[in-house]
Amino acid sequence: MAKLKAAVLISGRGSNMQALIDYCKTDAAAAEIVLVISNVPGAAGLDRAAEASIPTTTIDHKKFADRESFEKEITQTLENHQVEMICLAGFMRLLTKSFVDHWQDRLINIHPSLLPAFKGLDTHERALAEGVRFTGCTVHFVRAEMDSGPIIVQAAVPILSDDDPESLAMRVLIAEHRCYPLALSLIAQGKIEIVGERVLIEGAEAPGVAFLNPTDDVD
Ligand code: GRF
Repeated sequence: MAKLKAAVLISGRGSNMQALIDYCKTDAAAAEIVLVISNVPGAAGLDRAAEASIPTTTIDHKKFADRESFEKEITQTLENHQVEMICLAGFMRLLTKSFVDHWQDRLINIHPSLLPAFKGLDTHERALAEGVRFTGCTVHFVRAEMDSGPIIVQAAVPILSDDDPESLAMRVLIAEHRCYPLALSLIAQGKIEIVGERVLIEGAEAPGVAFLNPTDDVD
């Protein structure tokens, strides 16, 4: 069966992109990464992609007069590569409604919180300040409103009493690297259906228990 042609859009180090590349290199993968685009010249992720022999290109937003012309170039480049699914992975530009609508249900993002909590930046700082006992990450289809859209996969990560934003970010990132390949794999296998704001997943197993933080297994 033909593999789903995916592109990854990055702005920085590209560790989530790497997790997607690693998944796509497995024999059973139903998706392939055909292109990596960075809006930041020299982004570290570009080297990682090149090392994996994946075509890369830089589309520097600073070279365009406005958002529309920048995004038009991205769409053109993606369409030249017959891209069927876009994965945003630390892509630090807001996208216009017209771009998002054009790629409706073919555009996914990973966000380092349990959406709809903590949209936007500095998610770990804010989770710690609010005193929530779990945070995590979310892979979702992108809609025009920032950090919104039908949720595909989430991971819950407990907050520890001695966490700081860096230690928490590190544990959430490890979860991100599991969630993003899983989401792409489910899509590529045709197991996902979007019904309104919800994602239905064929054959999905959910954990049958509640996680408590702190735990209630006392001596
Ligand atoms: C990740 O935390 C992701 O959730 C957020 O930006 C960060 C990108 O990290 N959207 P990386 O470039 O994938 O390492």
